[in-house]
Amino acid sequence: MDMKEYVSKVRQAANYIKEKSNITPKIAIILGSGLGKISENLESPIQIVYENIPNFPKSTAPGHKGELLIGKFGDKNILLMNGRFHYYEGYTMKEVTFPIRVMQELGIEYLILTNAAGTLNPDFEIGYPCLITDHINFFGDNPLIGPNYDEWGERFPDMTEVYSKYLIDAAFSSAKKLNIRIYSGVYLGLSGPTFETPAEMTMMRNFGADLVGMSTVPEAIVARHAGIKLLGFSAITDKAVPTQLKKVTAEEVLEVAEKTGGKIADIIMDMINSNIFE
Ligand code: HPA
Repeated sequence: MDMKEYVSKVRQAANYIKEKSNITPKIAIILGSGLGKISENLESPIQIVYENIPNFPKSTAPGHKGELLIGKFGDKNILLMNGRFHYYEGYTMKEVTFPIRVMQELGIEYLILTNAAGTLNPDFEIGYPCLITDHINFFGDNPLIGPNYDEWGERFPDMTEVYSKYLIDAAFSSAKKLNIRIYSGVYLGLSGPTFETPAEMTMMRNFGADLVGMSTVPEAIVARHAGIKLLGFSAITDKAVPTQLKKVTAEEVLEVAEKTGGKIADIIMDMINSNIFE
């Protein structure tokens, strides 16, 4: 990978977005599978389709649109990514995390990652949101492999607090205030596209994970490297628990995520309105 070329491609994309919008958001949100409806809360958004952004990958996953939206929640400017890129689609790690570098170049300070996930924890119920307290990178790959671009971050970035504790606390407070039941746990990210075998579920649970999904970890790693503060939400869409087995389908995952998305949106909106992201 030619890092100089990658950096210049990222800057081209960022410049295009800057030209399209004269507002400069500090907060970005990535909408996961079935969670696109969160974008309905955005006021007077300008839409930029991925196809028109120079060098931007194209979104192919079901339940994912391919658009960037820049608008407002209340008086706060927000950059919404409606549709993300997954490793299982065949993208490289550098492609999957390209939008995060664009966000870094745009001056984004806070990133809220959302996804649909299965739960490995027998006590967690589907249809509820879960805050991501930490993650396990089980992709067998890492987006920071290759030459390091020092202007973007350090060679060996610290990962002791990927998801900001104070943002997690604030999210809990908002959920409590809104009477929304929410869990918290460790997210294990893997390539997919296969769902897990029962033996894999047992292994991952023994690793200490509560959630399993096919995204988020590469983006979180790059955002951390970039010094962007992170908050992560999973919508629990199915059980990955060997004693409570049911066949998982992508359709069900999307359906449950859509139902859970409203709760995640309410918490995010309350946090933004409470000036947590300042
Ligand atoms: N496993 C992996 N990824 C997922 C799942 C799951 O059970 N549910 C939603 N995304």
